[in-house]
Amino acid sequence: MIDASPVACEEFFSYLEKLFSISINDIRVMIQDFHAEMGKGLSGDESSLKMIPSFIDKPKGTEAGEFLALDLGGTNFRVLTVRLDGKGNANVPFASKFAIPQKDMQGTGVALFDFIVGCIDVFLTENHVDRSKTYDLAFTFSFPVEQTSIAAGKLIVWTKGFTATGVQGHDVILLLNEALRRKDIRCINITALANDTVGTLAARSYIDPACDLGVIMGTGTNACYREAASRIGKLNTVDAHGHMIVNMEWGNFDKVRVTCYDRLLDKASVNPGAMVMEKMVSGMYLGEITRLVLMDLIRRGFILVNETPAAEYFQERGSLKTEDMSRIEGDRTDRLDGVALFFERNGFSNITLHDKILLQRLCRIISTRAARLGAAAISAVLTWIDPKFKDVHTVGIDGSLFEKYPGFKTKMMNVLEELYGEKAERITLVHAKDGSGKGAAIIAAVAASSEAGRV
Ligand code: BGC
Repeated sequence: MIDASPVACEEFFSYLEKLFSISINDIRVMIQDFHAEMGKGLSGDESSLKMIPSFIDKPKGTEAGEFLALDLGGTNFRVLTVRLDGKGNANVPFASKFAIPQKDMQGTGVALFDFIVGCIDVFLTENHVDRSKTYDLAFTFSFPVEQTSIAAGKLIVWTKGFTATGVQGHDVILLLNEALRRKDIRCINITALANDTVGTLAARSYIDPACDLGVIMGTGTNACYREAASRIGKLNTVDAHGHMIVNMEWGNFDKVRVTCYDRLLDKASVNPGAMVMEKMVSGMYLGEITRLVLMDLIRRGFILVNETPAAEYFQERGSLKTEDMSRIEGDRTDRLDGVALFFERNGFSNITLHDKILLQRLCRIISTRAARLGAAAISAVLTWIDPKFKDVHTVGIDGSLFEKYPGFKTKMMNVLEELYGEKAERITLVHAKDGSGKGAAIIAAVAASSEAGRV
């Protein structure tokens, strides 16, 4: 029987708050688990953290040149030209963005790479690029790739809803080169393959030597950091000197407490059992977790009771997006007019202030957990690099959650302050804009320098 009394509703919300809470104690335990998984991943043992060597070190800031860059990793694909002046400026004279059709995301790899090359062709034509010359190109491919050199690597597994066949287990540079040949495009020389986190670290450290951690908090989540090659046990000894950026693939971290709602989401995903932390933290999933809890609230008769049958409206997967949450949580008006707009758009007309307050509270619960988990993961990496915070650290972060979600950064900073008190001042979280575009070009420039392929 449904008990929809205000007391029962309040009790249920307190339960939800507890269920999704990440205490400072939880975070301390998580940091230890993170370190254990990092150690295992680096030595090549079974670990939820893949810890993938990128075969490149941070830029010095003096790299210069003009590069083409490709950015594949979310709902859009981008082609850019990036000019590096060697003095910290990375300019983008030309850039084009293309929506990736669902049929190419989830069809065959050949179709996906043909789509990519079709976009390159359009870009070259629209920008009157002279095809008789050769251009160095950096490919930001924001998925877990087992790199074997700076310009070679096999896709381990698709994430973020991509399922194109014939790509997993294959060298993505090879696939791209084949597609370029199919279209008879001969003016491109692919010199670098990079994860978006690596691009983000490169983009920020190009202008800020204190940056040693690159993070994405967007559609997906992940981080990379600068590691001593001697600590990467699984590296071939020939490569084990100097420093190298390591792509952690932290979205797959699985030593986290999941709720029944997370389990539901996971079961319905295209990759059940994988990317456990990403499904609790990143923009692709937060709206969906919120929708699943909202459905439960409706079923229990705690919200939208004047709207029958309310549950039907939110039956559809994806009917509540992380962008909606962002607007809902950012609504500071007295009567929550922005929240009302969201409900009205979904066909509701009898919503009460109480409904609006509850939805806003729910969004806050889900986004707070995401921000705290993200900050916990950052703390784990920082204490791995520098346990006593002897140095100052800049964390370059890109992605819409960090950039746009109201209060996200503050919630992350709060965790660092709770953990480290005054020492948290030694950590700066900054928005590193367009790491996957500019950063890729910087990586191509590092690769083109004398240490290319060796760090
Ligand atoms: C991918 C990572 C990527 C992250 C952010 C994850 O789903 O596995 O490689 O860095 O998303 O785009």
